[in-house]
Amino acid sequence: MKILVVGGGGREHAIIMKLAGSDKNPELFCAPGNGGISRYAKCFDVKATDIPGMVKLAQEIQPDWVFVAPDDPLVMGMADELQKAGFKTFGPRANAAIIEGSKIFSKNLMKKYQIPTGAYEVFDNSEEAIAYIKKQNTYPTVIKADGLALGKGVILAQNEEEAVEAVKSMIDDKKFGESSSHIVIEEFLTGPEVSVLSFTDGKTVVPMVSSMDHKRALDNDEGLNTGGMGTVAPNPYYTEAIAAECMEKIFKPTIEAMQKEGRPFTGCLYFGLMLTPDGAKVIEYNCRFGDPETQVVLPLLDTDLIDIMQAVWDGTLDKLTVNWKNQNAACVVLASGGYPVKYESGKEISGLDEKGQVQGAFVYHAGTKFTDDKFLTAGGRVLGVTATGDTLEHALNQAYQSAELISFEKMHYRHDIGRRALQAKQG
Ligand code: AMP
Ligand code: GLY
Repeated sequence: MKILVVGGGGREHAIIMKLAGSDKNPELFCAPGNGGISRYAKCFDVKATDIPGMVKLAQEIQPDWVFVAPDDPLVMGMADELQKAGFKTFGPRANAAIIEGSKIFSKNLMKKYQIPTGAYEVFDNSEEAIAYIKKQNTYPTVIKADGLALGKGVILAQNEEEAVEAVKSMIDDKKFGESSSHIVIEEFLTGPEVSVLSFTDGKTVVPMVSSMDHKRALDNDEGLNTGGMGTVAPNPYYTEAIAAECMEKIFKPTIEAMQKEGRPFTGCLYFGLMLTPDGAKVIEYNCRFGDPETQVVLPLLDTDLIDIMQAVWDGTLDKLTVNWKNQNAACVVLASGGYPVKYESGKEISGLDEKGQVQGAFVYHAGTKFTDDKFLTAGGRVLGVTATGDTLEHALNQAYQSAELISFEKMHYRHDIGRRALQAKQG
């Protein structure tokens, strides 16, 4: 069996390792991949967003599966084109990936099907948006670009000045191009955040182990928003009672809504949830595995991922039992100094073995390159040091002890990943 994975970050490395562990023993390919992935899969220099290039590559490799991991190719229709060319894919078609590709689509879907989410209005005119903000006069207020904006399209404005600035930069200055010509202004929600990834074949939804991301760059949730600086799983705030409520009020209704709209969602649907005092509400949907959530969720999966992919493709997920290890996982992201703004690349990474690994943990590579028998940094988020354990404390200790063995110039990481999760467990 041959499998081609599209993408080249820590998430893709975690997917590759899960596939590598299958007893079906697949031959693995990745495009574009990265330094760490290249030690386990044959990598090709084709951009993740290059749809014709990827179809051509698939025609050369003739894989049994193409696993499309990132959001932009899915939203642009890569799964559609690969399927047309005769390939089985894991990942939704464009008409379903729009659940992440357009915030207006997802908010309207939730409104129509009464799925709990923050109140909102949509604007394409900055004067009307500003008039609305002044009339509301409640801060913080949340301003979101409609389309994909590299994870930067959400602004939590603390006052009128910031809100007006955000609206103008998005609509008038087209900060994110066409992505921000339409915006959503949304109610600010409070409470612990939970990420729940799920497998779905369009009819049945199977939630994975819950997780907690740490989005800010610095300790104590200070600094700028990033793609994610670390994760733990499971998320202690996500109790069995809350999981049952989410299943009935959010997960099943979303899958049914997409089916009723003629947009069956197949693949991994990611629910970004806020556990507010009024119950769980959806902050966002993603049409794919999260990064770095995948790095803590997939190590806990006990069922063969290829069997799940097949059931999703066949529409027989209701007949498959998906099992999880009764363990905890923690991932600490080692980033380049200056990330998420300006940082340098090409720094030699020390402390890794020839497979890019370190004792006591598994190192998922995100932004690395392997040249002349050396690993070099090649991105903002460089490595995700991940460990599992019978307790969260043990997993965190292992991940941090292993992280200390690694170094590169201006390396930076958070020292408080999982701290709040530990406190929630204790209190
Ligand atoms: P997103 O890019 O949609 O993942 O949003 C980035 C982050 O902004 C989320 O993880 C939340 O922490 C925050 N956020 C988004 N929407 C809201 C909201 N309505 N209320 C409070 N925080 C929010
Ligand atoms: N870690 C958040 C995301 O993947 O969107």
